[in-house]
Amino acid sequence: MKLYEITFSPTGGTQKAADILTEALGGQAAAVDLTDGGADFSAVVCAPEDIAVIAVPSFAGRVPDPAARRLASVRGNGARAVLVCVYGNRAYEDTLLELADTAARAGFQVVAAAAALAEHSVLRRFAAGRPDSEDARQLQQFAVQIREKLSAGDRSAPAIPGNRPYRQKGGSGMVPLPGEGCISCGLCARRCPVGAIDPHDPGQVDRERCISCMRCVSLCPRSVRKVSPAALEALEAKLSEVCSRRKSEELYL
Ligand SMILES: Cc1cc2nc3c(=O)[nH]c(=O)nc-3n(C[C@H](O)[C@H](O)[C@H](O)COP(=O)(O)O)c2cc1C
Repeated sequence: MKLYEITFSPTGGTQKAADILTEALGGQAAAVDLTDGGADFSAVVCAPEDIAVIAVPSFAGRVPDPAARRLASVRGNGARAVLVCVYGNRAYEDTLLELADTAARAGFQVVAAAAALAEHSVLRRFAAGRPDSEDARQLQQFAVQIREKLSAGDRSAPAIPGNRPYRQKGGSGMVPLPGEGCISCGLCARRCPVGAIDPHDPGQVDRERCISCMRCVSLCPRSVRKVSPAALEALEAKLSEVCSRRKSEELYL
Protein backbone atom coordinates (compact mmCIF):
# COMPACT_ATOMS: atom_id res chain seq x y z
CA MET A 1 0.00 0.00 0.00
CA LYS A 2 1.38 3.35 -1.04
CA LEU A 3 0.20 6.72 0.32
CA TYR A 4 -0.02 9.65 -2.10
CA GLU A 5 -0.47 13.31 -1.28
CA ILE A 6 -1.79 15.11 -4.35
CA THR A 7 -2.11 18.85 -3.79
CA PHE A 8 -2.73 22.13 -5.56
CA SER A 9 -1.54 24.79 -3.12
CA PRO A 10 -0.46 28.10 -4.63
CA THR A 11 0.27 29.85 -1.31
CA GLY A 12 0.75 26.93 1.07
CA GLY A 13 -2.45 26.90 3.15
CA THR A 14 -3.92 23.85 1.42
CA GLN A 15 -0.57 22.10 1.79
CA LYS A 16 -0.52 22.75 5.55
CA ALA A 17 -3.97 21.21 6.06
CA ALA A 18 -3.16 18.28 3.76
CA ASP A 19 0.13 17.64 5.59
CA ILE A 20 -1.61 17.43 8.98
CA LEU A 21 -4.14 14.91 7.68
CA THR A 22 -1.61 12.91 5.65
CA GLU A 23 0.77 12.63 8.57
CA ALA A 24 -2.03 11.47 10.87
CA LEU A 25 -3.12 8.93 8.26
CA GLY A 26 0.20 7.20 8.10
CA GLY A 27 3.06 9.54 7.40
CA GLN A 28 5.44 9.13 4.51
CA ALA A 29 3.62 9.97 1.28
CA ALA A 30 4.62 10.35 -2.36
CA ALA A 31 4.03 14.03 -3.15
CA VAL A 32 2.30 15.08 -6.37
CA ASP A 33 2.32 18.85 -6.97
CA LEU A 34 -0.56 19.88 -9.21
CA THR A 35 0.75 23.47 -9.42
CA ASP A 36 3.60 22.20 -11.62
CA GLY A 37 2.39 23.08 -15.10
CA GLY A 38 5.29 21.22 -16.72
CA ALA A 39 4.62 17.83 -15.09
CA ASP A 40 3.09 14.83 -16.83
CA PHE A 41 0.39 13.74 -14.39
CA SER A 42 -0.59 10.73 -16.49
CA ALA A 43 2.69 9.22 -15.21
CA VAL A 44 1.15 9.10 -11.71
CA VAL A 45 -0.32 5.60 -11.69
CA CYS A 46 -1.99 4.36 -8.50
CA ALA A 47 -3.08 0.84 -7.54
CA PRO A 48 -6.33 -0.37 -5.88
CA GLU A 49 -4.66 -0.89 -2.49
CA ASP A 50 -3.22 2.66 -2.43
CA ILE A 51 -4.58 5.67 -0.59
CA ALA A 52 -4.44 9.22 -1.95
CA VAL A 53 -5.05 12.42 -0.02
CA ILE A 54 -6.19 14.89 -2.68
CA ALA A 55 -6.31 18.52 -1.54
CA VAL A 56 -7.29 21.71 -3.35
CA PRO A 57 -8.31 25.22 -2.31
CA SER A 58 -11.78 26.57 -2.96
CA PHE A 59 -11.75 29.38 -5.50
CA ALA A 60 -15.18 31.04 -5.68
CA GLY A 61 -16.74 27.82 -4.42
CA ARG A 62 -15.14 25.68 -7.15
CA VAL A 63 -12.02 23.62 -7.80
CA PRO A 64 -9.40 25.84 -9.51
CA ASP A 65 -9.42 24.96 -13.23
CA PRO A 66 -5.80 23.81 -13.58
CA ALA A 67 -6.17 21.60 -10.48
CA ALA A 68 -9.22 19.86 -11.97
CA ARG A 69 -7.59 19.43 -15.38
CA ARG A 70 -4.34 18.03 -13.98
CA LEU A 71 -6.05 15.73 -11.48
CA ALA A 72 -8.16 14.35 -14.33
CA SER A 73 -5.05 12.94 -15.99
CA VAL A 74 -3.80 11.07 -12.88
CA ARG A 75 -4.56 7.34 -13.07
CA GLY A 76 -6.44 6.39 -9.93
CA ASN A 77 -6.99 2.72 -10.87
CA GLY A 78 -9.41 2.17 -7.97
CA ALA A 79 -7.16 3.66 -5.25
CA ARG A 80 -9.03 5.03 -2.26
CA ALA A 81 -9.18 8.82 -2.09
CA VAL A 82 -9.50 11.10 0.92
CA LEU A 83 -10.49 14.52 -0.40
CA VAL A 84 -9.73 17.83 1.24
CA CYS A 85 -11.06 21.20 0.21
CA VAL A 86 -9.47 24.16 1.96
CA TYR A 87 -11.19 27.52 2.15
CA GLY A 88 -10.65 30.95 3.65
CA ASN A 89 -13.59 31.12 6.06
CA ARG A 90 -16.20 32.35 3.55
CA ALA A 91 -17.73 29.17 2.05
CA TYR A 92 -16.69 26.23 -0.13
CA GLU A 93 -20.03 25.61 -1.87
CA ASP A 94 -19.52 23.08 -4.72
CA THR A 95 -15.75 22.58 -4.33
CA LEU A 96 -15.84 19.20 -2.58
CA LEU A 97 -18.52 17.81 -4.88
CA GLU A 98 -16.62 18.91 -8.00
CA LEU A 99 -13.43 17.44 -6.51
CA ALA A 100 -15.23 14.15 -5.81
CA ASP A 101 -16.57 14.01 -9.38
CA THR A 102 -13.14 14.80 -10.83
CA ALA A 103 -11.41 12.21 -8.62
CA ALA A 104 -14.00 9.56 -9.57
CA ARG A 105 -13.48 10.29 -13.27
CA ALA A 106 -9.73 9.85 -12.73
CA GLY A 107 -10.45 6.37 -11.37
CA PHE A 108 -10.32 6.98 -7.60
CA GLN A 109 -12.79 5.54 -5.10
CA VAL A 110 -13.71 8.41 -2.82
CA VAL A 111 -14.01 7.11 0.76
CA ALA A 112 -13.84 10.32 2.79
CA ALA A 113 -13.94 14.07 2.30
CA ALA A 114 -13.12 16.98 4.53
CA ALA A 115 -13.50 20.74 4.39
CA ALA A 116 -10.69 22.52 6.21
CA LEU A 117 -9.72 26.11 6.88
CA ALA A 118 -6.63 28.12 6.02
CA GLU A 119 -5.74 31.78 5.90
CA HIS A 120 -7.58 33.56 3.08
CA SER A 121 -4.89 33.95 0.45
CA VAL A 122 -6.31 37.21 -0.93
CA LEU A 123 -7.56 38.79 2.29
CA ARG A 124 -5.06 37.49 4.82
CA ARG A 125 -6.83 38.85 7.87
CA PHE A 126 -9.59 36.27 7.38
CA ALA A 127 -8.76 32.92 8.96
CA ALA A 128 -5.34 34.40 9.82
CA GLY A 129 -2.98 31.84 11.29
CA ARG A 130 -5.11 28.86 10.30
CA PRO A 131 -4.85 25.94 10.31
CA ASP A 132 -4.16 26.46 14.05
CA SER A 133 -3.83 23.95 16.88
CA GLU A 134 -7.61 23.46 17.16
CA ASP A 135 -7.79 22.78 13.39
CA ALA A 136 -4.91 20.31 13.68
CA ARG A 137 -6.65 18.51 16.52
CA GLN A 138 -9.83 18.16 14.45
CA LEU A 139 -7.96 16.92 11.38
CA GLN A 140 -6.08 14.38 13.49
CA GLN A 141 -9.38 13.14 14.93
CA PHE A 142 -10.76 12.82 11.39
CA ALA A 143 -7.72 10.76 10.46
CA VAL A 144 -8.52 8.30 13.26
CA GLN A 145 -12.10 7.93 11.95
CA ILE A 146 -10.89 7.56 8.37
CA ARG A 147 -8.35 4.91 9.38
CA GLU A 148 -11.08 2.96 11.17
CA LYS A 149 -13.23 3.04 8.03
CA LEU A 150 -10.31 1.95 5.86
CA SER A 151 -9.21 -0.87 8.13
CA ALA A 152 -12.79 -2.20 8.20
CA GLY A 153 -12.43 -2.57 4.41
CA ASP A 154 -15.29 -0.10 3.92
CA ARG A 155 -15.00 1.49 0.45
CA SER A 156 -18.39 3.20 0.51
CA ALA A 157 -18.72 6.71 -0.90
CA PRO A 158 -19.70 9.49 1.50
CA ALA A 159 -22.57 11.91 0.81
CA ILE A 160 -20.84 15.16 -0.10
CA PRO A 161 -22.58 18.55 -0.04
CA GLY A 162 -22.86 20.70 -3.16
CA ASN A 163 -24.94 21.16 -6.28
CA ARG A 164 -24.82 20.02 -9.89
CA PRO A 165 -24.56 21.94 -12.10
CA TYR A 166 -21.84 23.57 -10.05
CA ARG A 167 -22.01 27.27 -9.35
CA GLN A 168 -20.74 29.57 -12.06
CA LYS A 169 -16.97 29.96 -12.21
CA GLY A 170 -15.73 33.20 -10.76
CA GLY A 171 -12.56 34.39 -9.17
CA SER A 172 -11.29 37.51 -7.59
CA GLY A 173 -10.41 38.81 -11.08
CA MET A 174 -7.40 40.45 -9.49
CA VAL A 175 -4.19 40.33 -11.48
CA PRO A 176 -1.14 41.02 -9.31
CA LEU A 177 1.52 43.29 -10.81
CA PRO A 178 5.02 44.29 -9.73
CA GLY A 179 5.52 47.66 -8.10
CA GLU A 180 8.58 49.80 -7.60
CA GLY A 181 11.57 47.74 -6.48
CA CYS A 182 10.94 44.75 -8.76
CA ILE A 183 14.34 43.44 -9.86
CA SER A 184 12.89 41.12 -12.53
CA CYS A 185 14.36 38.08 -10.77
CA GLY A 186 11.75 35.98 -12.59
CA LEU A 187 10.86 33.79 -9.58
CA CYS A 188 7.17 34.68 -9.95
CA ALA A 189 7.22 33.65 -13.61
CA ARG A 190 9.01 30.37 -12.90
CA ARG A 191 6.62 29.38 -10.12
CA CYS A 192 3.33 30.65 -11.63
CA PRO A 193 1.07 27.54 -11.80
CA VAL A 194 -0.33 28.60 -15.18
CA GLY A 195 2.64 30.32 -16.85
CA ALA A 196 0.83 33.65 -16.98
CA ILE A 197 3.89 35.83 -16.28
CA ASP A 198 6.47 36.75 -18.92
CA PRO A 199 9.84 35.52 -17.52
CA HIS A 200 11.73 38.28 -19.33
CA ASP A 201 9.36 41.04 -18.23
CA PRO A 202 7.40 40.11 -15.06
CA GLY A 203 5.21 43.20 -15.53
CA GLN A 204 3.62 41.48 -18.53
CA VAL A 205 0.83 39.16 -17.43
CA ASP A 206 -1.53 37.14 -19.58
CA ARG A 207 -4.81 38.20 -17.96
CA GLU A 208 -6.71 35.36 -19.60
CA ARG A 209 -4.42 32.78 -18.02
CA CYS A 210 -4.01 34.34 -14.57
CA ILE A 211 -6.19 32.58 -11.98
CA SER A 212 -5.48 35.19 -9.26
CA CYS A 213 -4.08 32.45 -7.02
CA MET A 214 -1.68 34.89 -5.31
CA ARG A 215 1.37 32.64 -5.53
CA CYS A 216 3.40 35.43 -7.15
CA VAL A 217 2.38 37.82 -4.34
CA SER A 218 3.26 35.34 -1.62
CA LEU A 219 6.70 34.39 -2.94
CA CYS A 220 7.98 37.75 -4.24
CA PRO A 221 11.33 38.08 -2.42
CA ARG A 222 10.99 41.87 -2.34
CA SER A 223 7.27 41.88 -1.45
CA VAL A 224 6.56 44.25 -4.33
CA ARG A 225 4.11 42.13 -6.30
CA LYS A 226 0.63 43.16 -5.30
CA VAL A 227 -2.99 43.52 -6.33
CA SER A 228 -4.66 46.89 -6.48
CA PRO A 229 -5.29 48.21 -2.93
CA ALA A 230 -8.65 49.66 -4.05
CA ALA A 231 -9.82 46.29 -5.35
CA LEU A 232 -8.67 44.63 -2.11
CA GLU A 233 -10.54 47.17 -0.04
CA ALA A 234 -13.73 46.64 -2.03
CA LEU A 235 -13.48 42.85 -1.69
CA GLU A 236 -12.78 43.12 2.01
CA ALA A 237 -15.88 45.28 2.53
CA LYS A 238 -17.97 42.77 0.58
CA LEU A 239 -16.73 39.72 2.50
CA SER A 240 -16.15 41.14 5.93
CA GLU A 241 -19.45 40.02 7.46
CA VAL A 242 -19.61 36.53 5.97
CA CYS A 243 -15.94 35.81 6.74
CA SER A 244 -15.79 37.04 10.31
CA ARG A 245 -17.46 34.15 12.23
CA ARG A 246 -15.00 31.32 12.80
CA LYS A 247 -15.94 28.22 10.82
CA SER A 248 -14.88 24.67 11.67
CA GLU A 249 -13.67 21.63 9.81
CA GLU A 250 -16.29 19.21 8.46
CA LEU A 251 -15.87 15.51 7.76
CA TYR A 252 -17.90 13.33 5.38
CA LEU A 253 -17.44 9.59 5.81
C1 LIG B 1 -9.06 33.38 -6.53
C2 LIG B 1 -9.42 32.97 -5.12
C3 LIG B 1 -10.72 32.65 -4.79
C4 LIG B 1 -11.06 32.27 -3.50
N1 LIG B 1 -12.36 31.94 -3.21
C5 LIG B 1 -12.70 31.58 -1.95
C6 LIG B 1 -14.04 31.21 -1.64
O1 LIG B 1 -14.90 31.16 -2.50
N2 LIG B 1 -14.35 30.92 -0.35
C7 LIG B 1 -13.40 30.95 0.66
O2 LIG B 1 -13.75 30.73 1.82
N3 LIG B 1 -12.10 31.22 0.37
C8 LIG B 1 -11.74 31.53 -0.90
N4 LIG B 1 -10.42 31.80 -1.20
C9 LIG B 1 -9.40 31.59 -0.17
C10 LIG B 1 -8.70 30.25 -0.38
O3 LIG B 1 -9.61 29.21 -0.62
C11 LIG B 1 -7.86 29.86 0.84
O4 LIG B 1 -7.11 30.96 1.27
C12 LIG B 1 -6.94 28.69 0.55
O5 LIG B 1 -6.36 28.29 1.76
C13 LIG B 1 -5.86 29.05 -0.44
O6 LIG B 1 -5.06 27.91 -0.64
P1 LIG B 1 -3.47 27.98 -0.78
O7 LIG B 1 -2.95 28.68 0.48
O8 LIG B 1 -3.08 26.57 -0.84
O9 LIG B 1 -3.16 28.77 -1.98
C14 LIG B 1 -10.07 32.20 -2.49
C15 LIG B 1 -8.74 32.52 -2.82
C16 LIG B 1 -8.41 32.90 -4.11
C17 LIG B 1 -6.99 33.21 -4.43
